[in-house]
Amino acid sequence: MKRKIGVIGAGNVGASVAVYLAQANLADVILLDIVEGIPQGKALDLTQAGPVLGYNSRVTGTNSYDDLAGVDLVIMTAGLARKPGMSREDLLNSNATIVGGAAENIARVSPDTFVIVVSNPLDIMTYHFRVKSGFPKNRVVGQAGVLDSIRFRAFIAMELGVAATDTQALVMGGHGDTMVPLPRFSSVGGIPITELLSKEKIDAIVDRTRDGGGEIVRLLKTGSAYYAPAAASVDMARAILNDEKRLLAASALCEGEYGIDNLYIGVPVILGADGVEKIIELKLTDEESAMLKNSAATYKEALAVLGY
Ligand code: LAC
Repeated sequence: MKRKIGVIGAGNVGASVAVYLAQANLADVILLDIVEGIPQGKALDLTQAGPVLGYNSRVTGTNSYDDLAGVDLVIMTAGLARKPGMSREDLLNSNATIVGGAAENIARVSPDTFVIVVSNPLDIMTYHFRVKSGFPKNRVVGQAGVLDSIRFRAFIAMELGVAATDTQALVMGGHGDTMVPLPRFSSVGGIPITELLSKEKIDAIVDRTRDGGGEIVRLLKTGSAYYAPAAASVDMARAILNDEKRLLAASALCEGEYGIDNLYIGVPVILGADGVEKIIELKLTDEESAMLKNSAATYKEALAVLGY
């Protein structure tokens, strides 16, 4: 039987996720949104693109969670997006209601599914989804480390004029201003970027990475990024469904790792058929560790706002 992926939210991120999933021929896609007609219309549109884009994935749209029964994986994108001047944390209360409701519905119709959360503020919403769904920690993961790392990689490639696909980068910490890009673990063709770029250039790329989402919000003015967030989510979906054992940064539940307890935050993980199969614990420098702890403290405060 063909695999099924449910995409919650048919806005810019959700629809882009559906496009990339269909093109990857990874699974049939069920697009869900509360707005009548939007998921059905986008799904039909995407189905009609299949013959020329060369995919056979079935793409359908629905307003009912019942149609997500038995999906193998859920990509949770629903929620309000940032407008200029807003931080991701400004979305806390409104998106908690949306994400909490989705988690309860998914637990009802697809109790065995894996979940990739994309809604913001990312690390908090991933924690909230897990609590409301009651799912084990390996089956609920947040997409942000991949997005932040590919932004870092794109900027390295732009600066050096090298192929983006030859770059590697690691960004840990929360998906916000306190994120922790790690030049020491970033490279091109195996060469650490510290060998290729001056400290000033690296600092500028690190700052631009931290502000990567904000830069796009300021350009778009009406919302936030969606192509790269969607592409990053599909990369993670493929890793889980194809049991790829990818080593990626993702928001995972730390229970003592890196000295952080009971918090979803960006760390390197192994992603495979069991979801988050392992958190990789790196030996960080004092400075890196302090940045990660600072990021964690910010998210503990945000969780407290939701009563956790
Ligand atoms: C961003 C939003 C989607 O980083 O969090 O672009």
